[in-house]
Amino acid sequence: MDTLKETHFADLGERRQGKVRDVYVQPDKLILVATDRHSSFDRIIAHIPQKGAVLNLSSAFWFENTADIVPNHVLDVPDPNVTVAKRLKPLPVEAVVRGYLTGTTSTSIWTRYQAGERIFGGLTLPDGMKKNAKLPSAIFDPTTKEDAHDRTLSLKALVEEGFIEAGLLEKLRKVALALFARGQDVAARHGLLLVDTKYEFGLDADGGLVLIDEIHTPDSSRYWKLDTYEARIATGNEPDYFDKEFLRIWFREHCNPYEDATLPEAPADMVAELSRRYIAIYEQLTGRTFAVDRSIPVAQRIDKNLAKYRMA
Ligand SMILES: Nc1ncnc2c1ncn2[C@@H]1O[C@H](COP(=O)(O)OP(=O)(O)O)[C@@H](O)[C@H]1O
Ligand SMILES: [Mg+2]
Repeated sequence: MDTLKETHFADLGERRQGKVRDVYVQPDKLILVATDRHSSFDRIIAHIPQKGAVLNLSSAFWFENTADIVPNHVLDVPDPNVTVAKRLKPLPVEAVVRGYLTGTTSTSIWTRYQAGERIFGGLTLPDGMKKNAKLPSAIFDPTTKEDAHDRTLSLKALVEEGFIEAGLLEKLRKVALALFARGQDVAARHGLLLVDTKYEFGLDADGGLVLIDEIHTPDSSRYWKLDTYEARIATGNEPDYFDKEFLRIWFREHCNPYEDATLPEAPADMVAELSRRYIAIYEQLTGRTFAVDRSIPVAQRIDKNLAKYRMA
């Protein structure tokens, strides 16, 4: 299967490699190429056919459907895997929004709730809430965006430690909550619950907030199935969800993904299954058919579609 692992396009500008995207930097724009790299345990564990296109097209769908709430960085989507974006300075805050009491990592709200924490983003939760319960209202639970480890900080601490000015943080909070409400609304109409997500913002020349990076993709967000949610949590089960955990579990069982220098290759049937799941959630969420031209190799197609962005 043809996967997009890494790109090296000529004359598009200085190339930087993120975990998932290859970014070409031009004076006023970024060419963001979403590859099929799949990251976990802070490294690339597999390449999932069509994943890059699913991520990029999902973001494009959501940028279109939220442009009335906040301006975004999109200038053009010249290829299913590519967004040409306004180049902005990212704010050092990740706008995490949570709608449900869930998660398993140390920064997740369920872990913190179980450890006795009750105040989240200005909301005080009662004792005795069950895992995966809906929060009384969505909360803004930002983290810092740092080289080492992102930290969850209170709004007060974010301002005191100099990450962001209070007025701008308040604006960011309102916009993030409005985006999340829209996301929940649109997702529900397609039979899904938007559980949590994170946004990144930049500032334009006039100091206005602009939404950058990606929005409501299956990588930046958690989704559950709407129709089975009530019954499953009432019976103490986990909600049905878009699940990529099975691949992580396989790696944990077959190697030490945190320490081994090289990793075994993921089983082909699991890679194919994950690809199907990405495409299925894209189609359900957007109501659009995933129709990407596979008649020419993906790198060749992108190269052709980016011709007008080449710098002489
Ligand atoms: N419009 C933009 N202006 C500046 N930086 C951006 C913009 N959109 C996205 N970025 C940055 O580009 C990178 C995208 O690549 P990605 O693979 O997601 O990287 P990461 O490994 O940091 O998540 C991120 O670091 C993101 O903050
Ligand atoms: Mg990213």
